[in-house]
Amino acid sequence: MMDIRTAWEELKHKVSACRKCGLCESRHNTVFGEGPVNDCHAVIVGEAPGEDEDISGRPFVGRAGQLLTDILEKGGKISRDTIYITNTIKCRPPGNRNPSADEISACSEYLEAQLLLLHPDIVVTMGNIPTKALLDTKEGITSLRGKWHEWRGIRLLPMFHPSYLLRTEGLRGDKSPKYLTWQDVLALKTEINKLTH
Ligand code: URA
Ligand code: URA
Repeated sequence: MMDIRTAWEELKHKVSACRKCGLCESRHNTVFGEGPVNDCHAVIVGEAPGEDEDISGRPFVGRAGQLLTDILEKGGKISRDTIYITNTIKCRPPGNRNPSADEISACSEYLEAQLLLLHPDIVVTMGNIPTKALLDTKEGITSLRGKWHEWRGIRLLPMFHPSYLLRTEGLRGDKSPKYLTWQDVLALKTEINKLTH
């Protein structure tokens, strides 16, 4: 396995010093991502840091992040620290508004560089924002999720965003977002098993 550490550290430094869009004015920390860098099988791409992530500099550590951990660990028997976790954009939009098209496009070179360096077998996009950032599609997450797509030769699985699951917690049954997400994480686990066994 080629050691990507130097290129990785340079990229990380570039992100931490980035002033390409206005979000640099209000951020406390950039959130680069965390997880295994060498021999990385799967990457999860979320939307953007929220308040807890902006303060800690770590991805998915707030309420949605705790649910993501449960989806992976309880739903899929996948330990969270075996997956590289990052976001479409690296700085928090004030008040957690959706990132603008300009902010997404200013930041896209970083996600792209991360994915090219990590070169995972699988990318999982959580919700509409990362899915649309990586797939050239007008379709929404509800029709894209649970099916395998492709980004530059890497298999890509869209899933619902954990924040969406928190907003639809009351829904039950075999069409509920929670049930469908539990199906999706099992499909993810099946593919990860094939890579690691
Ligand atoms: N939601 C995201 O999409 N990313 C995070 O890092 C936290 C919450
Ligand atoms: N809308 C989103 O942006 N994400 C989801 O996961 C569901 C609806």
